[in-house]
Amino acid sequence: MSNELKRLSVEDILNKKKNGQKITVLTAYDYPLASIIDKAGIDIILVGDSLANVVLGLEFTREIGMEEMLHHSKAVNRGVQRAMLIGDMPYGSYHHGPAKAVKNARRFLDEAGCNAVKIEWFPKCLSVAKAIVEAGIPLMGHVGLTPQAIKRLEDFKVQGKEAAAARKIIQNAKNLEAAGCFSIVLECIPDRIAEIITQELGIPTIGIGAGGNCDGQVLVSYDLLGLFDRHHPRFVKEYIDLKYMIFKAVTRYREDVLEGKFPAREHAFSIKEEEYRKLMAKERKL
Ligand code: KIV
Repeated sequence: MSNELKRLSVEDILNKKKNGQKITVLTAYDYPLASIIDKAGIDIILVGDSLANVVLGLEFTREIGMEEMLHHSKAVNRGVQRAMLIGDMPYGSYHHGPAKAVKNARRFLDEAGCNAVKIEWFPKCLSVAKAIVEAGIPLMGHVGLTPQAIKRLEDFKVQGKEAAAARKIIQNAKNLEAAGCFSIVLECIPDRIAEIITQELGIPTIGIGAGGNCDGQVLVSYDLLGLFDRHHPRFVKEYIDLKYMIFKAVTRYREDVLEGKFPAREHAFSIKEEEYRKLMAKERKL
């Protein structure tokens, strides 16, 4: 696909850290939003499994699988020209050994046009990470709060607040770098822990709820756009209230239809007078 030639590469992303340039990342789940985000110059577009929550209305990310992720990744791929496109591997797709993980990771590249995949930390993830990287598939890691491990809403909370837990997260990040990841998401951890990881790793850190000292930032686009209001994590900045704007537009449409104001003349199609007369003459004869 010619699009891919223009997309940012792993090297471009690594160079940004070397040159002290921040990396911008957003999620997308469909063609129109992906095209807008890409045109706005965001560096990485992640088809996050947050798809489960913000688009499909499910409670937990572990509720969606490969087919849904691929379906949406394909749509996003059609809208992306410049950004690197990353597919988020869903729960269960990389937890049953390296061979199955590599097979599923490859599907994101071959079938959906992604340039890389992301996996969340879990106890046996290092052998999986190594196998994916050895198969030539660029891999992003994810430590701290790992939503796929969560089965109860009350467990969505900041991780690494005690020294021992923080030490583990730092070590997990280092191990993922050693396994070959080209970057790593740090989710919901104290900013000073994110700063340590960012300083100690050669690969870029991408923070979400991890403070301003990461090499880059990621947000769920539906949170930034004010489209999702079931949960409001403190780390989200809502840049626009699209749900209110959409509500207003839909209400106006409803009122216009009820009052006969829509469609107006300019929204309708016409038939030539001569054809109309012919039609009516025939109708009358019948
Ligand atoms: O699924 C997702 O949207 C993510 C980001 C929050 C990093 O994993």
